[in-house]
Amino acid sequence: MTIHIGAKPGEIAETVLLPGDPYRAKWAAETFLDDPICVNQVRGMLGFTGTWKGNRVTIHGSGMGMPSLSIYANELIRDYGAQTLIRIGSAGAMQERINVRDVVLAMTSTTLSTPSSGMFRELNFAPCADWSLLSAAAAAAEAKGVTTHVGGIYSSDCFYDERPDLNEQMTRHGVLAVEMEAAELYTVAARYNRRALAVLTISDHLLTGAALPSEDRERSFGDMVEIALQAAFA
Ligand code: ADE
Repeated sequence: MTIHIGAKPGEIAETVLLPGDPYRAKWAAETFLDDPICVNQVRGMLGFTGTWKGNRVTIHGSGMGMPSLSIYANELIRDYGAQTLIRIGSAGAMQERINVRDVVLAMTSTTLSTPSSGMFRELNFAPCADWSLLSAAAAAAEAKGVTTHVGGIYSSDCFYDERPDLNEQMTRHGVLAVEMEAAELYTVAARYNRRALAVLTISDHLLTGAALPSEDRERSFGDMVEIALQAAFA
């Protein structure tokens, strides 16, 4: 057990999928895994371990924002030996050509700061996805026929952003989408030489105001889970 995870030693798989929402973790585990068991309930941050095509997988909530994700990524890696960590979550599109329901695979992520920034001091570390996961996820998404974009994203600390000029800068610099966790996941994974990727579904559009209808959310989320699982075990 750690401060934030109640799982016993051996109850967390080497491959961990990280949705922000703990109830999404429950839904994904019950929908896609065989024999899922609940391995964490501390603070309601649910985690489940089961198997997918015979491979052990844990699906565990990360919470919203980089400070929350950082706690779980650190403990999953340092205390439970997680080797492959894939965020599955939503993002807001920042380019006209991207539509709601599209998938974005984050090659890298720009930030103002992450929980790791203090450690880097004057250095601007470039958080980067694992290539084997990124290329496998791109292939899996193409095979599924899901419209997919691969490139840079923006990991923001603010959902209710009082600095729209920052979003404009991101759009001008070709950034595909905004979310709130990937940069710290990539940074912590790099620190411990682990594999990480963020697979994101576009839920809203910052330029057009479009939003994913609630009845489509489950199917889009399911596509993302399958892409992440196929990439993890490619
Ligand atoms: N996640 C989904 N949509 C988002 C947005 N517009 N900003 C930040 N995170 C998001």
